[in-house]
Amino acid sequence: MQKLEKIYEGKAKILYTTEDPSLLIQYFKDDATAFNAQKKGTIEQKGVMNNRIAARIFEHLKDNGIATHFVECLNDREMLVKRVAIVPLEVIVRNRAAGSLCRLLGLAEGATLACPTLEFCYKDDALGDPQINEYHIRALRYATDDEVKYIKDMAFRINDILKKFFLGLKIELIDFKLEFGRVNDRIILADEISPDTCRLWEVGTGNKLDKDRFRRDLGNIEGAYQEVLRRVSSH
Ligand code: TMP
Repeated sequence: MQKLEKIYEGKAKILYTTEDPSLLIQYFKDDATAFNAQKKGTIEQKGVMNNRIAARIFEHLKDNGIATHFVECLNDREMLVKRVAIVPLEVIVRNRAAGSLCRLLGLAEGATLACPTLEFCYKDDALGDPQINEYHIRALRYATDDEVKYIKDMAFRINDILKKFFLGLKIELIDFKLEFGRVNDRIILADEISPDTCRLWEVGTGNKLDKDRFRRDLGNIEGAYQEVLRRVSSH
């Protein structure tokens, strides 16, 4: 499958058309950003690691009945995906307090939540992906009520599946961000799931195996991504 035209370049990935109009090539870059791109850098081989990690996670979700845009890995940095129209929402699921939830509610990092939580952000870099609620989504027609219900159900199902998956690898899934896309009147999981888009803490040590190492200058970023790749590949 050949790359034809670049149709989108984001902070961590590029999308290209292919000769099949229903398929795109998703290319993973080494670029890393944080705090809405105020902090920029590169993580050596991140694109290679995230391509492999995301592929493994998409395969596991597929095996558990979740429809995703993933088709197959093409090479180290590229995967073939179904072309979707992205729903302009970032869907964040949390199992424990970390990051912006701690700032919002004055919680200690790692604070227990009585049940998983979910937040919607409007996907707009210029606005800094602001958090919105379901009334905004309805009023601005970002998604229909049925789509919102479906997306919430899917997000919590994905959380159940991935929590178990990572726990089997001695990793606790603290939180993660999902994006969904529309294709043929259906909604499927899109984008990526990787240490860029999840918080992953090693069970026992609490070591951070995710992009917080970059955000907060904790060192050994590549080693953390490599360790996640090693563990998800062993499953
Ligand atoms: P937050 O605590 O900064 O809101 O992040 C929650 C989760 O979402 C965390 O696992 C990182 C992920 N995330 C992204 O993937 N992209 C983003 O732009 C942001 C802000 C968070």
